[in-house]
Amino acid sequence: MPPRSDVHYFGAGPAPLPTSVLERASQALLSYKDSGVGLCEISHRSGDANQILADAKAAMTTLLDIPEDYEILFLQGGGSGEFSAVVYHMVSLWVEKRRIRAQEDLTVAIADGKTEGPLEQKVFQRLKQEVDEELKLDYLVTGSWSLKASQEAARLVGAPHVNVALDARTENDGQFGIIPPESTWKLTARTREGGPGSAMVYFCDNETVDGVEFPSFPESLQACPEDAVDDDAPMVIADMSSNFISRKVDVSKYSVIFGGAQKNVGNAGVTIVIVKKSLLPPTANLAKPDLLRKLNLPVGPIVFDWPTIAKNNSLYNTLPIFDVWIAGQVMADLVQTCGSKKIAGQQEVSDEKAKLLYGTLDRYPQVYRVVPHQSVRSRMNICFRVAGGDEQKEKAFLAGAEKRGLMGLKGHRSVGGIRASNYNAVTLDSAKLLAKYLEDFAQGV
Ligand SMILES: Cc1ncc(COP(=O)(O)O)c(C=O)c1O
Repeated sequence: MPPRSDVHYFGAGPAPLPTSVLERASQALLSYKDSGVGLCEISHRSGDANQILADAKAAMTTLLDIPEDYEILFLQGGGSGEFSAVVYHMVSLWVEKRRIRAQEDLTVAIADGKTEGPLEQKVFQRLKQEVDEELKLDYLVTGSWSLKASQEAARLVGAPHVNVALDARTENDGQFGIIPPESTWKLTARTREGGPGSAMVYFCDNETVDGVEFPSFPESLQACPEDAVDDDAPMVIADMSSNFISRKVDVSKYSVIFGGAQKNVGNAGVTIVIVKKSLLPPTANLAKPDLLRKLNLPVGPIVFDWPTIAKNNSLYNTLPIFDVWIAGQVMADLVQTCGSKKIAGQQEVSDEKAKLLYGTLDRYPQVYRVVPHQSVRSRMNICFRVAGGDEQKEKAFLAGAEKRGLMGLKGHRSVGGIRASNYNAVTLDSAKLLAKYLEDFAQGV
């Protein structure tokens, strides 16, 4: 069995964790804080568990400069669980906003004699029509995960309510690998432009399978000065499962950021949601389950209900505190090592490793072909083909890599090829060893 230090693991998730954190975890599993009781054995409602939760939130807030008007939630169900949770929540918000507006308008109309009651029935009729004709969820589909999220939305609310504003494959021979210009996106028109506006715009910041990352926050999703009230700004939801805490993010531009922990932050089992407080009660109102049912819209499981989770400080039901502790340790260590640079410090390292690997691949175009277009290459998941995708050559590449302790390089089963995941716990030394192997393989050494 090779020692851990001899193995350089580039798996896409679950992914490597810092050895120092795992060493501390092994102690904590046996006896947390020398209590004789292990971390997986303590109550999620104990003082220790509450402290673990508070510490993890504090480290995340420091690293990402999360503004005070955002709530951090920890849930289970993975990134896929949040594909559903965002739909439940954003649809419910949209419906309630429309219901309140209909009630206000119709109350006045009835008082003015312009229409006749009963009010409740009139409100429902108008709401039903608005849901049928105007409820839209916008998806930017740039890879396998945003595709899956859009499919889940269609499964929950029906395909007519899902507006795939962009399917990047249509511009790239049926394959993911580019992000077409924003001028080609077909976002639902925004309220102040005369259209109904969508309940949300969803994108996946980093597509793990396809190696496509948004280089920056999309221009067309920026709130404009004309968005006098928050209601008119686009509700932007981003899946950051695979590039969370790897670069600077202006959290204030997002309504919701979510991600499973098992790439950059921790182990599988816990999912992080950062949600604007104005989208939660008491500021925001959500549609009542009875109304949603009458409108043929879904009512989500309580464990995915963000207001319930927020109200209970993520402890509505048994939270895997060990997972939160791991994430907290990973982030606390980053707070220490990055110092005043915060997450920008980690970004420098991530960028350096990515530059090294892409630079090496680009030096041997006769051997390697990076799959995504240059402008959207992921800094986290470096996807490439060897010898034009020749099966035997790619097998030989992987076998040679394993001999040098370079593991986890096989591409996702849906696309094949090679994928080197460059998450935070992959050290610069590991990246250098991989770059050396890329050189040697290309030169036939
Ligand atoms: C970008 C992205 N989103 C969502 C998911 C789904 O996460 P989970 O397996 O935790 O449901 C993944 C999984 O790899 C992912 O990479």
